[in-house]
Amino acid sequence: MEITVTVNGERRTFPIDPSTRLLDLLRRAGYYGVKHGCDDGSCGMCAVLLDGTPILSCVTLAAKADGRSILTIEGLGRTPELGWRRTEGLHPIQEAFVETGAIQCGFCIPAFALAAKALLDRNPNPTEAEVREAFSGILCRCTGYLKPVQAVLRAAARMRGELAPPIEEEARRMIIPPEGPIPLTEALPAEEISPPAPEGGPGLQTRTIVLPTIVLPQPVPETRVVGKPEKKVDALRLVQGKPAFTDDFELRGMLYAKVLKSSLPHARIRRIDVSKARALPGVAAVLTYQDLPRVVYSTAGQSDPIPGPLDTFSLDSKVRFVGDRVAFVAAETLEIAEKALELIEVEYEELPAVLDPRDAMKPGAPIIHDEPEYVPFDGSDPSRNLAAQIRIEIGGVDKGFEEADYIFEAEYIVPKVQQSSLETHVVITYWDEDDRLVIRSSTQVPFHARRILAPVLRLPPKRIRVIKLRIGGGFGGKQEVLIEDIAAHLTIATGRPVRLEWTREEEFTAARSRHPMRLRLRTGVRRDGTIVANEMYVLSDTGAYGCHALTVAGNTGHKAMALYPAWDEKGEPRIRFHADVVYTNTPPSGAFRGYGVPQGFFAVEVHMERIARALGLDPLEFRLKNALKAGQEHPFSRAWSEGREPRPEIVHTCGLPECVRYGAAYVGWHEKFGNPEWHQVPGQPHLRRGIGVACVMQGTAIPYLDMGAASLKMNDDGSFNLLIGATDLGTGSDTVIAQMVAEVLGCAVEDIIVYSSDTDFTPFDKGAYASSTTYISGTAAVRAAQQVAEQIKEVAAALLSERGAPVSPAEIRLADRRAWAPDGRSVTLEEVALSSLHHRDQRQIMAVASYVSPVSPPPFAAQFAEATVDIETGEVRVDRLVMAVDAGRIVNPLTASGQVEGGMIQALGYAVSEEMVFDERGRVVNPRFGPYKIFQAHEVPELGVIFVETVEPTHPFGIKAVAEIPMDGVAPAVVNAIYDAVGVWLTQIPATPERVWRALREAQAGGTGSRA
Ligand code: FES
Ligand code: FES
Repeated sequence: MEITVTVNGERRTFPIDPSTRLLDLLRRAGYYGVKHGCDDGSCGMCAVLLDGTPILSCVTLAAKADGRSILTIEGLGRTPELGWRRTEGLHPIQEAFVETGAIQCGFCIPAFALAAKALLDRNPNPTEAEVREAFSGILCRCTGYLKPVQAVLRAAARMRGELAPPIEEEARRMIIPPEGPIPLTEALPAEEISPPAPEGGPGLQTRTIVLPTIVLPQPVPETRVVGKPEKKVDALRLVQGKPAFTDDFELRGMLYAKVLKSSLPHARIRRIDVSKARALPGVAAVLTYQDLPRVVYSTAGQSDPIPGPLDTFSLDSKVRFVGDRVAFVAAETLEIAEKALELIEVEYEELPAVLDPRDAMKPGAPIIHDEPEYVPFDGSDPSRNLAAQIRIEIGGVDKGFEEADYIFEAEYIVPKVQQSSLETHVVITYWDEDDRLVIRSSTQVPFHARRILAPVLRLPPKRIRVIKLRIGGGFGGKQEVLIEDIAAHLTIATGRPVRLEWTREEEFTAARSRHPMRLRLRTGVRRDGTIVANEMYVLSDTGAYGCHALTVAGNTGHKAMALYPAWDEKGEPRIRFHADVVYTNTPPSGAFRGYGVPQGFFAVEVHMERIARALGLDPLEFRLKNALKAGQEHPFSRAWSEGREPRPEIVHTCGLPECVRYGAAYVGWHEKFGNPEWHQVPGQPHLRRGIGVACVMQGTAIPYLDMGAASLKMNDDGSFNLLIGATDLGTGSDTVIAQMVAEVLGCAVEDIIVYSSDTDFTPFDKGAYASSTTYISGTAAVRAAQQVAEQIKEVAAALLSERGAPVSPAEIRLADRRAWAPDGRSVTLEEVALSSLHHRDQRQIMAVASYVSPVSPPPFAAQFAEATVDIETGEVRVDRLVMAVDAGRIVNPLTASGQVEGGMIQALGYAVSEEMVFDERGRVVNPRFGPYKIFQAHEVPELGVIFVETVEPTHPFGIKAVAEIPMDGVAPAVVNAIYDAVGVWLTQIPATPERVWRALREAQAGGTGSRA
């Protein structure tokens, strides 16, 4: 049939099949701003306006649009200047999204912008609650929704003709603490620390400004670009829905791939018959384990050598979890590929499965990895289902326990949760004109992917090119070489381009997730509240493959146990950390933002609260008394370093005391904690309020290992091309690196054209993980910029000397796009570039630099939570989350606060709602959004962010990491708030109504969880 639709004001006719979805029609027609994150209407990414009303195009037939009008993001507005042509410019909604920092990965932005357009068309003056309501049904995994909501309110004001001042002029709360110690118990004036009360009365969930509070405990150097709320360098392309992502690209003759998955948790393939599938018209290839070279590898995207076992094959004759790979298909269409899967006949010999990690360690348990090719790493023992084992003993732990007046011991359980980036895993592979394999992938680790795939594909790395485009969120899930090999094998088999995209269900059943763990803690404490020994045992479930098994579990101890070193009288820490990481027949775990640390801190910070409460100590003072401090040695630094040689490391900066102090003031801790009146909710006797805290730390990069590099060259007009292998996955790393480079070169961020990343063109970078990009790749870029600055100064000095009094390069200063002599004369950077490229002593001004750090300076934070608990239903509503973070100097307060806001909401899911649930056959029973509960815009609590700016001496601009630490403290702070509200301890998350209700009933019956 044929339909006629007006798309973005243009009348178009399309031949369609009656079953064609509107989403597919629009994307095939080149409207790539219409995104795709599920197939059942549960993510909202595919929203478009049909006759002005938002609809989900993935669940709408194209035929329904016949004779009607559609608006996609491409029709909203565009770049105002396109050469000699002027356009109508960006829509005020798009402008506001750019200005407020509402765009992180940007995958959700087209849907939000269109929903906002529909709202403002019918209601030009919406309340915040109405904006949030309009956003319901559209998920964002990055922002925490605060800035997108603010963007709409800002756009609405502008469209009504009201003043919306530039973000830089927004009142910023900069606090310089008074000299000398402030007693923790002294309440600070909250109005100076938290934003002004929101206008518009009760019911508002966020404040009306987007910049965070900044506390400056020490002077920070003057900078012009670093520290400013610059717009993201990729914001314009993302807010216009440009084809910036992996899948926004089509090649002639492209095939569509699908994977046949195991329906059994553990089995051998006795017979597989693909003849019918191969014979199906339109099928180009069907591959089984019999067709591929048998190469053992690890999918973990880590540096060489990978610190974990090699236990994976592209295809194997054995399946180890429901969802494991059985066969690959490539066909002319997705529908044919799916049909072909149904025609593959497989005969399995089912093997006994083991789903519980405790059972996996028992003698006689089924062995999951019995393949002879298995390569162990440091403690792995497949005969005992052990992927990794850690035994760390620091100082006289047993002596510490002997000295203790009290010993507190408890077990904590944390769930398996999924990264849930809105863009699923997607890859396109093809041979280029030189028979080199091009892999266009949504990956956090393009260089590791090339290295890891080379032997698997039997290609040398030089014949592989990996291109990373914009990434629609990763959160560690794309630090995995997960599906690139599948498309590549099919391209090798067929000679044709192949596209493979995981469905949302496959993300849950066949991608990676956070390691579920059981953590047993034992802590020795003196009567005065001094911790004298600390011990943790972790049983971690890596699922069917050991990707990141060792390093995630190592981090659980290395970061969470390090916060409380239990120093002895000689200054030695007393910490014991043991971990067993075991295989089970469940989907593999892997890297997930926080990388083992959220698990550790859930246990540690609930445990600390229990100790403080049991001993009648103030929870804030107890923590700070025992916490790691500036000038002390990192207690694990001599004991462990991700399976490599550890080296001692001093913690130079620690703003934790200020984080606790100012976070407490922001949240009103001193007025609420221990105040019985505040705990009651007037008129609602079934509700109780509580307040909780958690202190946390992370790391910044992996010392002596993580390497980043940058190449920088100057153009004729004084602009610069910055090529970095770093992988911005929506965090804004391209922007903050450009800010640092612009600071050194005395130019504007818009003069830095950032390109990341392509293994053919950009220098090596280990990729985006371990909170390292701004610190490692940023330092490399700063070093390259410093070299370029020296070259500019040489040329400028020559030019200025030629025109007047002699001046030396060392006297030149770069600022405002000019090179300045001390006497006030100057030349523009454009003059320098033209002289160097065209006029005299011709050479390209350019430099390359790289950086590896000898240290991993930890960021610190205090996380506060307020919650209301319904004692009749067990329902928990988190009302407010406030995080005070010492991440060193903040390069961009907009992007950094966006990281904290979004991280807190991801972590809130971990605390109260997210959990992958399995049945007795190892099948995920909730592999879709909805049953797997992610917070929506109208459900999130009020958020507050404070940055305590220390100046880390090991970085040129004093920064530490901010990306991962927001994941660490929310769950324990919420559980501590629940205890504060109703007096029961939860030792397992998420804190679902059922778990809370059960704990309340047990407490009523006199069980162990009670306040008593
Ligand atoms: S793609 Fe349409 S709602 Fe998810
Ligand atoms: S910015 Fe919303 S999903 Fe990434």
